[in-house]
Amino acid sequence: DRADALPRDLVGRRVVVSAGGTREPLDPVRFLGNRSSGRQGHALARVAAQRGADVTLVAANTTDLPVPSGVRVVRVRTAAELREAMHEAAPEADILVMAAAVADFRPESTAPSKIKKAGSDPEPVRLVRNPDILTELVERRRPGQLVVGFAAETGDGTGDPLHHGRAKLARKGVDFLLVNVVGDGLAFEVPVNSGWLLGGDGSERRIPVGSKNLLASTLWDAVARATAGRDR
Ligand code: CTP
Ligand code: CA
Repeated sequence: DRADALPRDLVGRRVVVSAGGTREPLDPVRFLGNRSSGRQGHALARVAAQRGADVTLVAANTTDLPVPSGVRVVRVRTAAELREAMHEAAPEADILVMAAAVADFRPESTAPSKIKKAGSDPEPVRLVRNPDILTELVERRRPGQLVVGFAAETGDGTGDPLHHGRAKLARKGVDFLLVNVVGDGLAFEVPVNSGWLLGGDGSERRIPVGSKNLLASTLWDAVARATAGRDR
């Protein structure tokens, strides 16, 4: 991971990376969350900075992780806060990477004080849909701006992770989709990842099991290649 061994091919590129997992509050002490630690997003930000990019990291609940050196951090908790931070930063960016795990749904309302168990039976939690931030970023992208999405897929009765990834790439309209394979000690709460890097041009590259820094380098290689001729 020595920075001086890395190419300086992202100099002059303004990058925004989201990382971590959003938390949707039920009351002042409880939330609906997910298993994303933020390690992959932090690795993406670290490697981009080491390769010369100007990096903003929009970090959802990653306070356990060190801030990569030279990286500007905006801390958020909920999907709504993450959305606001991305839309604030996006107009100035050349490259947007949505590595955060964003809650698809949030509780319809948040209790103003701690929900107590005494005196009542539990109520079902009503959920409402969160906006799809990645889709909004693609809709609002400026000319030449590159947008990268992530997908954590397990595979199911309707197809394997690659099948789901291809469908998601088409649906989201992104330039690249990083498909992570979930399960078997992969993706969440562990230092390794694997999967496929799918390009909007139909390119597909298999990423073998390796460190999150290695996966980050594979993505930045592809992004640097895709943006090589552009003004800085
Ligand atoms: N994403 C987002 N806003 C959301 C949900 C997801 O920006 N409300 C982004 C994620 O950061 C990721 C990409 O969309 O880059 C794919 O997320 P994923 O959960 O895999 O896709 P969904 O469209 O939510 O589909 P599903 O969860 O049903 O597989
Ligand atoms: Ca989702």
